[in-house]
Amino acid sequence: MSAEPSLNASIITAHPASRAPVGIFDSGLGGLSVLRAVRAQLPDEALLYVADSLYAPYGERDDDFIADRTLAIGEWLARQGAKALVIACNTATAQSIALVRERLSIPLVGVEPGIKPAALQSRSRVAGVLATQVTLRSTRFQALLERYAADCRFICQPGHGLVQAVERCDVGSEQLRALLAGYLQPMLEAGADTLVLGCTHYPFLDAAIRDIVGERMALIDTSVAIARQLERVLEQHGVRAALHATGAPVPRFFSTDGGAHLRQLVATLLDMDAEVERVEIPSRRTAALSSQPG
Ligand code: DGL
Repeated sequence: MSAEPSLNASIITAHPASRAPVGIFDSGLGGLSVLRAVRAQLPDEALLYVADSLYAPYGERDDDFIADRTLAIGEWLARQGAKALVIACNTATAQSIALVRERLSIPLVGVEPGIKPAALQSRSRVAGVLATQVTLRSTRFQALLERYAADCRFICQPGHGLVQAVERCDVGSEQLRALLAGYLQPMLEAGADTLVLGCTHYPFLDAAIRDIVGERMALIDTSVAIARQLERVLEQHGVRAALHATGAPVPRFFSTDGGAHLRQLVATLLDMDAEVERVEIPSRRTAALSSQPG
């Protein structure tokens, strides 16, 4: 994960209210795994969650499209009064956090695959990484490997089809299990004892992954570390929410598609019957898409 301080002091005074919400965003439903950890770590924070499900998966998009959407959604959340932004998407972080940092003046927290914890913990010195193609080919990911892999060999596997399955709320069909087995079996055969879940959608597949790998692999999910990083960033900026006398605020959920699957996953994962508000967040690339003849 990464975080950066606000760019100048006047911006900090523009967002002093510790009661302002934290914005969390993902290409779709995956960021809910991060939101769950944030709620557990920071129960007094008001949260706004945006799922850009209409344009998921980002992992199959070009770099400019991902940057365009990440920036548009970050700006939209800032306009809603967000005091900080969590880019709860490895793909968007890998591809566009540098640009968003330049353009947005609220503190940012991004996510990245847990290469460092995997290298620290693997005993066999072989570990697998499942992430999107965009994440795996990014300069940020290559730099992570160079910095932390040390003597550990990482087998990097693009998880084609997995984000689409989670977006359909498919976390255990036969077809999905076969897809996963095709990705994980070669890692097991190579002696991997650790698996980095390098996409925030993949923690929803943990039961299906466990059925295939059993206890032979430790699964690395960085959502708790991201929540702790957010806590540090809010404290550094003096904007951590005070204790809510009336109990934890209920997050607000927004989706760029109908939101039915977001609502379903919120119910399953967070045990909440939440309204999902449909939102249009126009951007340069999506305007170009909608002006194309049908
Ligand atoms: N949850 C996103 C990630 O962490 C999924 C990216 C996608 O939409 O392909 O990478």
